[in-house]
Amino acid sequence: MLKGKNIVVGVSGGIAAYKAVDIVSRLRKQGAEVYVIMTSSATNFVTPTTFREISANPVVTDMWDEPKNWNVEHIALATKADLFLIAPATANIIGKVANGIADDMLSTTIMATKAPVIFAPAMNSNMYLNPIVQSNIKSLTAIGYTFMDPDVGMLACGVEGPGRLPEPSAIVERVVSMFVRSNDLCGKKILITAGGTIEPIDPVRYIGNRSSGKMGYALAKAALSRGAQVTLISGPTSLQPPTGIDVRYIETAAEMQNAVLEEFNDSDIIIKAAAVADYRPQEVAVQKIKKTGESITLTLVKNPDILYELGKIKKERQLLVGFAAETQDLIENAMSKMTRKNLDMIVANDVTMPGAGFNSNTNIVKLIFKDGRIEEIPKMSKDAIASIILENILKLG
Ligand code: PMT
Repeated sequence: MLKGKNIVVGVSGGIAAYKAVDIVSRLRKQGAEVYVIMTSSATNFVTPTTFREISANPVVTDMWDEPKNWNVEHIALATKADLFLIAPATANIIGKVANGIADDMLSTTIMATKAPVIFAPAMNSNMYLNPIVQSNIKSLTAIGYTFMDPDVGMLACGVEGPGRLPEPSAIVERVVSMFVRSNDLCGKKILITAGGTIEPIDPVRYIGNRSSGKMGYALAKAALSRGAQVTLISGPTSLQPPTGIDVRYIETAAEMQNAVLEEFNDSDIIIKAAAVADYRPQEVAVQKIKKTGESITLTLVKNPDILYELGKIKKERQLLVGFAAETQDLIENAMSKMTRKNLDMIVANDVTMPGAGFNSNTNIVKLIFKDGRIEEIPKMSKDAIASIILENILKLG
């Protein structure tokens, strides 16, 4: 199941560190290449030699590495990793990552990686239930880190409650599921629009909006990683599309409409994250407009509402998802768009909120469904939101 996957296992200092030996062994049996990073406290429980033997790779520890090598090594493992597993994860390592502290090899590497990170906490129950630890877990979860619940039982310290490291078999199952999940859109064709359209006024000027394309590109990346065949219709953006998707660049709403209609019939799922100009200049001047008077009047005419048109021709087998960028009455306005445009789901973002909407790396959204159900997603990265949107679309199918 894990053949060809590079998994970095971070072992922090707790009595359950010995169980990480079993975890590493099981991951290798599944075909993974495993690299272990130990905190210096972890080396008090299990020796690096044990992990070196069991992983068949050098073990990185703070104790043994010269600081001059840190930079090179943490970048190397951070970029090599397909997945990071922290087991056992102590209150200390969770607290460090939650607060942006990178003062040893493990915390530095976690901070530098773009791979998914799973924490498997293990600690005394009172520590685990401490509001500070809980708040750290909550804030890390909100930005896309994954946490396993600890098992409940008698702990090494004699206290009974939550805090035991989950069984190695359960941890390995969770790791496997992170990769299996990535095929749940296999065989599906997904059409995604991203970025803003621009409507020319003359050869040098245009009407545009603040969309960066980040939300739509995050969706395209997430859909691709789950095995979908992705077509991305993109407005102008500085973003680099991931390799493996079919990208069509457009500028105006009319061009977006043509491209979308060409792809629509073949698509199983259509997600319109683009910010389309509702109006365009009636006339596009052939030459640059000269600065002649004190004021100038531009007449704008309505653009086609692409999503509304798609809602009219949508087939039973297709799922149509829109976005709503609102500055007031978020739910009411989004619901009315969902109904009018015949959508299966709408992603509503209040673009006045800090960390939401245009051009930010994060978003804050509400998923609104046809049956009136609303799911609130707190502030998290657009990548994490893209995954949640896809999971919810899958449940509709
Ligand atoms: O690109 P980013 O910087 O990451 O920003 C993300 C985003 C804010 C652009 C994104 O999260 C978002 O909200 N996209 C929709 C923006 C928008 O145009 O919303 P709207 O409420 O005006 O339109 C509703 C829906 O109809 C949208 O799905 C839109 O694509 C579609 N529409 C709108 C007008 C039009 N003429 N044709 C359309 O298809």
